[in-house]
Amino acid sequence: MDYMILVNQSHPLPEDWEKLLQTVTVVNSVGDEVVVEKKTYDAYLLLKKSLEEKDGICLEPDSGLRSIAEQQEIMERFTEKYGAEYARKTVAPPGYSEHHTGLAVDLYYRLKNADGSVRDVYTNEELEEHPDIWAVIHGRLAEFGFILRYPEGKTHITGYQYEPWHIRYLDSAAAAADIMGRPGLTLEEWLAEKGSK
Ligand code: DAL
Ligand code: ZN
Repeated sequence: MDYMILVNQSHPLPEDWEKLLQTVTVVNSVGDEVVVEKKTYDAYLLLKKSLEEKDGICLEPDSGLRSIAEQQEIMERFTEKYGAEYARKTVAPPGYSEHHTGLAVDLYYRLKNADGSVRDVYTNEELEEHPDIWAVIHGRLAEFGFILRYPEGKTHITGYQYEPWHIRYLDSAAAAADIMGRPGLTLEEWLAEKGSK
């Protein structure tokens, strides 16, 4: 299993990918089933534990592995709701989404209210209101082998707008630290530097 796989608008999911894929299925705090590649999920749990213990941020997975049919549905829903141009910048074409690999996770989190109750910070609009919380989360990703896949200002390389919630597992804390240590660097640029893609 190639944890350094590049899937983007010019690199579709390899045909034999699913043969090697082992997954786990979990239910998140809003009751949705989320499927994630096994090792990615184990690393996610360590990231979650660290953020909870040190920062009081309770991560939840919103979306992990998606089939091509599911990606098609998302594309159609976004196109209808926001128009084709916005959909193109925020949703990958079916067959070309990193979510097909099982190595990508979209995050949301739960926060404690002053009265001790807990609320889900879930919609993209709400999530975008908390750059301070994302800064803490992004600061912890590399230690557990994750990177921020769609950094700010890199639409011309990734094809997508900034997505603070979309993280990608690389199974290498060293590679992740190298990428996250250079803010704004994309997986595309890093792989090109290594001469591997
Ligand atoms: N939102 C990312 C680009 C995807 O649809 O895969
Ligand atoms: Zn995503």
